[in-house]
Amino acid sequence: MSRRNNQGNAGMSITVVGSGYVGLVAATCFAELGHSVICVDNNQQRIARLQHGHVPIYEDLLPELLRKHVGERLIFTTDLAEAVKASTAIFIAVGTPTAENGEADLSAVQYVIEEIADSMDGYKIIVEKSTVPVQTSDWIASILLCRGISRTCFDIVSNPEFLREGTAITDFMHPDRIIVGTTSHRAWEIMRDIYAPLSEGYYYASGSSVPGRCSIDQTPPLIRTSPASSELIKHAANAFLAMKISFINSVANLCEAVGADIQEIALGIGTDRRIGKGFLNAGIGYGGSCFPKDVTAFCSVASQFGVDLDLLVQVREINAQQRERFLTKVRTTLGSLHGKKLGILGLAFKGGTDDVRESPALSIIASLLQDGCSIIAHDPVAITNTQNVLQHHALTYTNDPYSVADQCDAILVLTDWQEFAQLDFVEIKRRLKTPIVFDGRNLLNIDTMSAMGFTYLGVGRPPVTRSTLHRSLTHSVAAIAT
Ligand code: UGA
Repeated sequence: MSRRNNQGNAGMSITVVGSGYVGLVAATCFAELGHSVICVDNNQQRIARLQHGHVPIYEDLLPELLRKHVGERLIFTTDLAEAVKASTAIFIAVGTPTAENGEADLSAVQYVIEEIADSMDGYKIIVEKSTVPVQTSDWIASILLCRGISRTCFDIVSNPEFLREGTAITDFMHPDRIIVGTTSHRAWEIMRDIYAPLSEGYYYASGSSVPGRCSIDQTPPLIRTSPASSELIKHAANAFLAMKISFINSVANLCEAVGADIQEIALGIGTDRRIGKGFLNAGIGYGGSCFPKDVTAFCSVASQFGVDLDLLVQVREINAQQRERFLTKVRTTLGSLHGKKLGILGLAFKGGTDDVRESPALSIIASLLQDGCSIIAHDPVAITNTQNVLQHHALTYTNDPYSVADQCDAILVLTDWQEFAQLDFVEIKRRLKTPIVFDGRNLLNIDTMSAMGFTYLGVGRPPVTRSTLHRSLTHSVAAIAT
């Protein structure tokens, strides 16, 4: 049943299955759009904590929106059957991890679809929100048919999510586009109603909308495709972004060989609108729960259909090498690491999140520990998650970013937390044994670091060493003299 909400659209009854990153954010944002949402998870403890106001992930704006909607338009439950009965649209947002053979493991999706089949009491649309391989919508339909559900009682929709961790709420409410992959006109109309507050803009006109790029005059396009195209769009989008990162990292390596600056190259090529400025930050490579998994799954899907996506195999290899190159830089500069003490700024796979899954920082730390050095590490929010997966007698953590410098041989910046750029590096230099910074995210200002007398090594940027500092000062003096 639908009812008019205060934003003028018909509020839909929606179930979101899965309260992980995508599920929790999607459920909360659908409630914010005026829909009645039931978020289901089989993890009883997680649901109980959500019901009591606990926010399980670090995500900007999520606590505020949960406070606003939980118990009102958003409820949490473990009872999938009841939720299915109460809803017209059921979004599947459960995990699709990488199986041992590189394919996406769809067992959680299958389990949920079977449960839904057993509870269906009328027409429903089943919406894939999780990232799934192409043709999964056909596979879902076949499961429902096998469980005796009539083809007239359901439609399948692919509606991939493009939110980024750290900016997930803003990304959801101000998307570049909304993709709806379905062959059914009835399902298309339901999806159009669900997203109407965004695509028709009246959410942005309401006084209390989440701030962002879209407005009543600039609404996100709703793009209708086939289910297969929609499924491929999600994999292709992530693979393309990962490719951009590996591309700029390869050029960064060339920059190091010829003495050019990758920041200048990124600006120079990124201002070409056909290329675009985003995802051209060179560094220690991409991590997280999506790019590594999705690039692997996309390669695997392609090879199942006899198509060679070797380009993406290279993207993965370049990404892995990028960490090794960074480690080589540290080893070459410091000599034997045995007995050295290093300070680490950043554990999360990127700034703005407490997520450490596939974090390049953690794999670099593990290698450094193997080299026999001791490490003191700081992250604004990811220490607890790191402690759960990485423990070593020579690894300690601190909540004070300055104490990572105490008596250390060097500092390594491994996550692009913007607050690291605001730190007082005069104080950091005072505490360090030797003033050396390895900036794995090109976060710090090269000129400032140089002026402060640091040895500074970024990625794809001319190194500032005390000898180059001396040389550049000599050049400047000579230039002034002539
Ligand atoms: C990514 C996509 O950006 C989202 O559109 C998508 O919805 C999501 O995956 C998903 O599939 O669920 P996310 O994993 O949150 O989002 O993080 P990104 O901001 O894309 O960053 C991924 C990694 O690339 C991070 O380790 C980041 O540090 C690295 N990165 C990003 C770079 O090394 N350089 C860049 O220029 C940009």
